[in-house]
Amino acid sequence: MSNAKIYPVPAETAKNANITREQYQEMYRRSLDDADNFWAEQADERLHWFKKWDTVNGSDLNKGVIKWFEGGKINAAYNCLDRHLEKRGSQTAIIWEKDDPKADAEHITYRDLHERVSRFANALKARGVKKGDRVCIYLPMIPEAAVAMLACARIGAVHSVVFGGFSPQALQDRVLDSDCHVVVTADESVRGGRNFPLKANADQALQKCPDVNTVFVVKRTGGKVDWQEGRDVWYHEAVKDASADCPAEETDAEDPLFILYTSGSTGKPKGVMHTTGGYLLGASMTHEYVFDYKDGEVYWCTADVGWVTGHTYIVYGPLANGAITLMFEGVPTFPDAGRFWDVVDKHDVAIFYTAPTAIRALMGQGNDFVTRSSRKSLRLLGTVGEPINPEAWEWYNNVVGDKRCPIVDTWWQTETGSILITPLPGATDLKPGSATLPFFGVEPQLVDNDGNLLDGAVAGNLCLARSWPSMMRTVYGDHQRFIETYLSTYKGKYFTGDGARRDEDGYYWITGRVDDVLNVSGHRMGTAEIESALVLHAAVAEAAVVGFPHDVKGQGIYAYVTLMSGKEPTDELKKELNDLIRKEIGAIAKPDFIQWAPGLPKTRSGKIMRRILRKVACNELDSLGDTSTLADPSVVDDLIEDRANR
Ligand code: WTA
Repeated sequence: MSNAKIYPVPAETAKNANITREQYQEMYRRSLDDADNFWAEQADERLHWFKKWDTVNGSDLNKGVIKWFEGGKINAAYNCLDRHLEKRGSQTAIIWEKDDPKADAEHITYRDLHERVSRFANALKARGVKKGDRVCIYLPMIPEAAVAMLACARIGAVHSVVFGGFSPQALQDRVLDSDCHVVVTADESVRGGRNFPLKANADQALQKCPDVNTVFVVKRTGGKVDWQEGRDVWYHEAVKDASADCPAEETDAEDPLFILYTSGSTGKPKGVMHTTGGYLLGASMTHEYVFDYKDGEVYWCTADVGWVTGHTYIVYGPLANGAITLMFEGVPTFPDAGRFWDVVDKHDVAIFYTAPTAIRALMGQGNDFVTRSSRKSLRLLGTVGEPINPEAWEWYNNVVGDKRCPIVDTWWQTETGSILITPLPGATDLKPGSATLPFFGVEPQLVDNDGNLLDGAVAGNLCLARSWPSMMRTVYGDHQRFIETYLSTYKGKYFTGDGARRDEDGYYWITGRVDDVLNVSGHRMGTAEIESALVLHAAVAEAAVVGFPHDVKGQGIYAYVTLMSGKEPTDELKKELNDLIRKEIGAIAKPDFIQWAPGLPKTRSGKIMRRILRKVACNELDSLGDTSTLADPSVVDDLIEDRANR
């Protein structure tokens, strides 16, 4: 790593940057040495408060208490809408680019968005939603997703967005876990020229959710839907009848803003809970500094609002800053692999933020799809979600960015709320594949497996030594799980679950998860979740899932399945298992390979040795390591033989 290529900050970028190198160094030092004053100033400058806080930082990682700006009164929707009206009421807030490339894009101004949000907020109230109630949002990439989120925020309700690609079962689990009584969905979603039955999925999910009393249905396609009288309400009718006047609730800085489910190494997905003041501060600050955002620029984050990236960098960050945020309904390869760059030209996008998996997929389609567009509006590129391999970085830089656009490789997590390790375009020289340096207030540490602090250029487990404002506060309904998952492995520190290396310049290189979490096309998945789905099948005795390197997806899913005695391994059964996973979780969790395993390698105490399964999946048979502790070492030979015959 020491001889990694370095890309210095371009002179032009440095000259106009929101944060210069000197400012970064000075502010970073202050954010650690004089933290309370630093954060108080930022919160004061960046956000509108109905009432100032009593305490800046009341967090204690040892006790599992995370609190920022306690006593402060604030409203997230007010900050994203109302306070912009005077200066930029008629400026575009959201550009909605539909799936169909020939359709006109919709430009929604701040004034218009404010009105839509207020109306839907009143519609929610009319159905009994009150401060603190949870509302589930199961929508495609349409403006109503942002409207619904902000409408919840406006009245102090807590949104729980569920990715539109999740199955009815996954939706049901989430609705029940957070006890939502209201769901917002659409008749159908549209992606890549095809329609998907979102309402039908929701209907199926809600069969076992008796407490859901209202389902708002956005009419996206006009496709046929079943209707449950009394429960189902057309969104367009509800907002037509609602008043456009809805004062923003004065919520406490520590009142919950949203819950977002994410996968961990054990058990069911966790409801990561974020609160209002600290989250919004992190979102707004990183959006401005990391993307070096300038007034009037069109900014495009290609994530789905179902993931945290969509929450923070399509909705809250950009709107808090009065930015123009582009929302894209479609997919990168429809009608062809040049769609992203066509959209960049169509809307003069200046800042473009996507995932390495998309870059790799498009790279594989050849340069012509890129070079047919001008991309002259582009100024800055970003990546998120997984490590980017230097080859993809170079392609992004050379072909997409024409060697003139710095790339910010941003490391963060659902739990962190906003970007924590990242270059700042005007301050940080880049090294392809490195997320580079910590953002303000972030104190990364590397520790060995025993928790010993590691100094200098070294690899280890990535921890954060202090709390930051946009940090998650708890796992919804299970605070103990929050403490156990994040704050107990290394006492007094937040453990990220990631491994990282630090080089001699202090740059961080994220190497990937060190726990049983997979990162498939930037989507997080627990191996345990996939295993639980597989063993639901009557023919399956046992299953073990591991990741393996995949050229496009980053990681692929490799499942070992042991059948009940007497059951035959057939292609039909493989198909049933794939269907089962689609039903339980969603298509994104479908294994790339299912290998029939007569037995799984276990220790004498019965623990599955995943290390060995990973090696077999990756075909790294020379480095299987010590197999002497296995109860039955011959199992491994069988697996290797079966893999060769696969
Ligand atoms: C991984 C997405 C390397 C990491 C915002 C983390 C990354 C997990 C990067 C969180 C990056 C995210 N370089 N790895 N720039 N960004 N990751 O919760 O393993 O969906 O723990 O949040 O993605 O995924 P999540």
